[in-house]
Amino acid sequence: MSRPVSAVSQMLERNQALFVGKRLLVCGALEDDYPRQLAELTDSLAVFTTDYCYYLSQQAALGERILFDHQLGGAPRFDALLLLMPKAKAEAQYLLAMMAPLLETGADLLLAGENRGGINGADKLLAAYGEKPVKRDSARRCSLYHGELSKPVTSFKLDAWFSRYECQAGDTSLTVMALPGVFSADGLDLGSQMLLASLPPMTGKLLDFGCGAGVIGATLAKRNPELQVNLVDISALALESSRRTLAANGLQGKVHASDVYSDIEGKFQHIVSNPPFHAGLKTFYAATETFLEKAPAYLSANGSLTIVANAFLRYLPILEAHFKQTEIIGSDAKFKVYLSKL
Ligand SMILES: C[S@@+](CC[C@H](N)C(=O)[O-])C[C@H]1O[C@@H](n2cnc3c(N)ncnc32)[C@H](O)[C@@H]1O
Repeated sequence: MSRPVSAVSQMLERNQALFVGKRLLVCGALEDDYPRQLAELTDSLAVFTTDYCYYLSQQAALGERILFDHQLGGAPRFDALLLLMPKAKAEAQYLLAMMAPLLETGADLLLAGENRGGINGADKLLAAYGEKPVKRDSARRCSLYHGELSKPVTSFKLDAWFSRYECQAGDTSLTVMALPGVFSADGLDLGSQMLLASLPPMTGKLLDFGCGAGVIGATLAKRNPELQVNLVDISALALESSRRTLAANGLQGKVHASDVYSDIEGKFQHIVSNPPFHAGLKTFYAATETFLEKAPAYLSANGSLTIVANAFLRYLPILEAHFKQTEIIGSDAKFKVYLSKL
């Protein structure tokens, strides 16, 4: 299915001469089919995404030209980079540092994004890679910056990009490892903390949906040594962070990509989540609503779903429509913890 062309892509469309005949690497906050057009213009195209949802939407059309991962390596082989500005500036820095060693000297550095998404800090981001970039275009509340790779590039060291902190959830202490832009990269979220404080001892199979840096799944694995934890997220940066968090605490767990239930098989005794409520700069609840509505199909007969949500989010009617029993087992002015049973 074709995705609507975003404002950023409309701006890029009128600058398409920049891409003709290039060996182009595209990454960042991709959201539509525009890379398919780029495939027609360029000599070669590689699209790198950390968003599994986007990957699934483009894989059939782009085939091997699209890669979903937390890291891309190899020798310099591109002469142009198009970075669509991600929400978190630290993620933009991470992507630039990772992509720069894959670019030939003199490569075009193109940064595009919405003005409210921080694109106007692009000149500062690019300062480490070349001389002052120019603002090529500005339209539909978006901007396009153009620089050139002219400074020496250092090799990319993934380990240097993890933040590491210790956190305490009830009587469980945990070391958390997180890549830039991952939820809770700098400290345990208060909602997740309340959720972890509300959960009883557990056995069987657990699904941590939207695992982020793995705080929930890893804490529960540490508290309940018999529990088999499964952690899923759409973000490759979150998945790698979760793997590192488990490893840093000497814990075992299955970590893999899934867009809601796209890659989930089997049933669980427990589904636990601090579910997403932002996507990029727009707030929308579609993924979380689907997650809640379909949860019963992934729970075993005596299974339960426990989620924490901002108190203003109206999840109770959805839970009551799909579960026999729902109670609020924790709350304060900001968050509510819901426990639902079949
Ligand atoms: C509020 S954060 C919670 C992170 C972590 N569990 C914690 O408590 O710190 C929600 C997570 O859901 C992930 N997410 C967003 N949409 C998703 C989807 N469609 N399927 C799976 N995970 C998704 C986000 O990448 C994010 O890591």
